[in-house]
Amino acid sequence: MYQADERRDFRDKAAGYERLAGELTALLAGEHDLIANAANAAALIFGALPEINWAGFYLLRHGELVVGPFQGKPACVRIPLGRGVCGTAAAQGRTLVVPDVHAFAGHIACDAASQSEIVVPLMVQERVRGVLDIDSPRLARFDETDARGLERLATILCTGSRFDSDGLR
Ligand code: SME
Repeated sequence: MYQADERRDFRDKAAGYERLAGELTALLAGEHDLIANAANAAALIFGALPEINWAGFYLLRHGELVVGPFQGKPACVRIPLGRGVCGTAAAQGRTLVVPDVHAFAGHIACDAASQSEIVVPLMVQERVRGVLDIDSPRLARFDETDARGLERLATILCTGSRFDSDGLR
């Protein structure tokens, strides 16, 4: 079974994401089940990235975001499009980097420890199918290198998974 090292060295962030992209590709190889792949992707990301307290997915089901596989404290289950950081990123179809969640109007607090957040849309055939959401207990934890690196991971997940069951289409 594939094993990732815990809490990788991300001092060279771009190199860290490069490595992680290769690991995710290997981890998902040959499997197309969305929930299985999202679960392993969440575990890989949570184990690899320093200074985070939540990593996981919200999936678009029947027009709203519903929590999917994640690592971290239990989270709010449903987020309407346009609400919170996740719903806003999904509605706009673009990555949102939020340096201070308390300064984001409408932020939905799931873990009181969270100070900053990044949300990357899951795009399949140019449509938003969900989001990858990562929280940090440190202010301004995420930057453009995180955005590009996590967008690449989201693309690997979307390319390797079937989004065709149970309202996900
Ligand atoms: N903070 C998110 C909600 C999800 S939790 O962070 C896991 C938001 O505002 O959409």
